Amino acid sequence: NNNVNCVKVDSRASNAVSELADIDWDNLGFGLMHTDYMYIMKCSKDEGFSKGELQRFGNIELSPSSGVLNYGQGLFEGLKAYRKHDGSILLFRPEENATRLREGAERMCMPAPTVEQFLEAVRVTVLANERWIPPAGKGSLYIRPLLMGSGAVLGLAPAPEYTFLIYVSPVGNYFKEGLAPINLIIETEMHRATPGGTGGVKTIGNYAAVLKAQSAAKAKGFSDVLYLDSVHKRYLEEVSSCNVFVVKGNLISTPAIKGTILPGITRKSILDVARSQGFQVEESHVTVDELLEADEVFCTGTAVVVSPVGSITYRDKRVTYGSDGVGRVSQQLYSALTSLQMGLTEDKMGWIVK
Ligand code: COI
Repeated sequence: NNNVNCVKVDSRASNAVSELADIDWDNLGFGLMHTDYMYIMKCSKDEGFSKGELQRFGNIELSPSSGVLNYGQGLFEGLKAYRKHDGSILLFRPEENATRLREGAERMCMPAPTVEQFLEAVRVTVLANERWIPPAGKGSLYIRPLLMGSGAVLGLAPAPEYTFLIYVSPVGNYFKEGLAPINLIIETEMHRATPGGTGGVKTIGNYAAVLKAQSAAKAKGFSDVLYLDSVHKRYLEEVSSCNVFVVKGNLISTPAIKGTILPGITRKSILDVARSQGFQVEESHVTVDELLEADEVFCTGTAVVVSPVGSITYRDKRVTYGSDGVGRVSQQLYSALTSLQMGLTEDKMGWIVK
């Protein structure tokens, strides 16, 4: 068609597996590498979930009328596999992801794999892609499970068929700052979630909704956006991609889970780790004022792990934390969590799955 600008898609290139030899393991960022296999399991209305299977990593076929494309009926998860020095492979609390997916599926009117099906699918996918797990201490294999309404539907309704899919990619640091503190801006006009909405589940639309504010923030040189509650516009919610924590003396606070905040697995783990290290921890309403007066601020998430915050900009005010680099508490919690995840310290909590 002469009047339409078409983008020529080279399906061979988009399906091609990355070259292991090209990977610079010392400088992994958070970008997709095409690994060997993905896992697919289908669910029809009548037959429930089929037996899942591994397929070569590549594009998938979807009806243009699928529920996920038309009405956003989709959820995702994120977890990581680490290679330990002795060669064994460790997962961090994978059953928590399975449970969260099931809770999200209930909210989004979708069937979900059982916890056992989820764990087996993760195990099989990680082992099939073992050669892509970074060497010990150099990063991790990010595991991305997806659950989507893949069946065709035109009128607004739950899709008649679902697909559970897992793909993986080796990753390093999420933010381009690496382990250095990130700079956040508080968004005062747009909101990530509203009471009664879906902010508390890991549905794909939550992430599309933050792209506009995030792009504007990045264009101004900020790392990401911190959202406020949509009712009072004074309580912290979360950052586009992670949860937020505020440190004042021995007290560590984070916004309480109340439907608009994602129940992060790293968030939950850091609360327990901090408690076990003698900090007082609190899940509460955290105000902007408390944030601006904090000693330290940090973010948590599977992708971001524990990321220290170097500055917050609110309206025209910029507050900085710590004079040189990472705060003491953020550093302490980062070290405690990552040494547990990498199998360097004893797993007293029973969080690691080999
Ligand atoms: C994760 O931390 O695993 C997430 O799902 C956040 C995503 C924006 C990378």
